[in-house]
Amino acid sequence: MFEEAQYFAPVTAQEDGSVVVELASSHPGFADPVYRARRNAIAGLAVGYRPGAPVPAAEYTEREHEVWALVARELGVKHAVYATAEYLHAARRLGLPQERIPQLEEVSELLEPLTGFRYVPAAGLVPLREFYGVLADGLFHSTQYIRHHSVPFYTPEPDVLHEVIGHANALASPRYARLYRAAGEAARRVEGEEALEFVSKVFWFTLEFGVMREAGELKAYGAGILSSYGEIEEFRGMDIRELDLSAMGTTHYDITKYQDVLFRAESLQHLEDVVGGFWDTCDDDSIAKLVASEL
Ligand code: TRP
Ligand code: FE
Repeated sequence: MFEEAQYFAPVTAQEDGSVVVELASSHPGFADPVYRARRNAIAGLAVGYRPGAPVPAAEYTEREHEVWALVARELGVKHAVYATAEYLHAARRLGLPQERIPQLEEVSELLEPLTGFRYVPAAGLVPLREFYGVLADGLFHSTQYIRHHSVPFYTPEPDVLHEVIGHANALASPRYARLYRAAGEAARRVEGEEALEFVSKVFWFTLEFGVMREAGELKAYGAGILSSYGEIEEFRGMDIRELDLSAMGTTHYDITKYQDVLFRAESLQHLEDVVGGFWDTCDDDSIAKLVASEL
């Protein structure tokens, strides 16, 4: 089973039209009835969403806005040290609010003039083919809920902080945005489920958890590192490997922990040549050869 599926809480529509999110008993919000009610209400917005319509606004509570403000402030300091120059430059151009959670519609309005990307709501796990495929159309599926206030530094469950601070700041860069689109085109081109999983793993080890050499230092451009002020302090000490398509496409990962194997590009140009070039041209046959070369 695709690893990322492990962490999305199941969402079910009830007969009365309401929506229930099943949080695991280990979830930090499990015993918090206020948080659970918020999760159900926010998931309901995505379940009722029809493509092309504006994304319904989530009415966030003060406490939720405070989580955003705290994390945005902590990350601002850490990004200055650990994020790539391209990401920092794009983030300045995007200009996300720092004190409150932006609505997804607002994120789209900031992003679209820069690179054409728009945000669409996701209640929970979106099937791989759909999630990646629509990147080719400049659409990014995003959760709208925020992590529980007891764990602001890290959550294994993708939330709006990750989707927006991690991904939208990157999507504001024309060069990173091109890579996201190329991943989407690759996901549409390949036919087999194994090839699709390979494409998604290369995405995981690059646009989610990629690191890059820059002026002799190791910087992060992966959204999963850049949205966690716990994990961002640790990535330089992980097992850092050379960029390698066969290895990235076949290495297993555990979504519930800090990533201990990371792949380093030598520059943005190197990433574009190797990974962009792969997504631009890959098909089921070329991926089968990459898998075979790793055995
Ligand atoms: N760990 C990330 C954070 O705390 C969020 C996250 C959850 C995530 N699941 C992910 C990031 C999967 C990348 C991929 O911000
Ligand atoms: Fe992500």
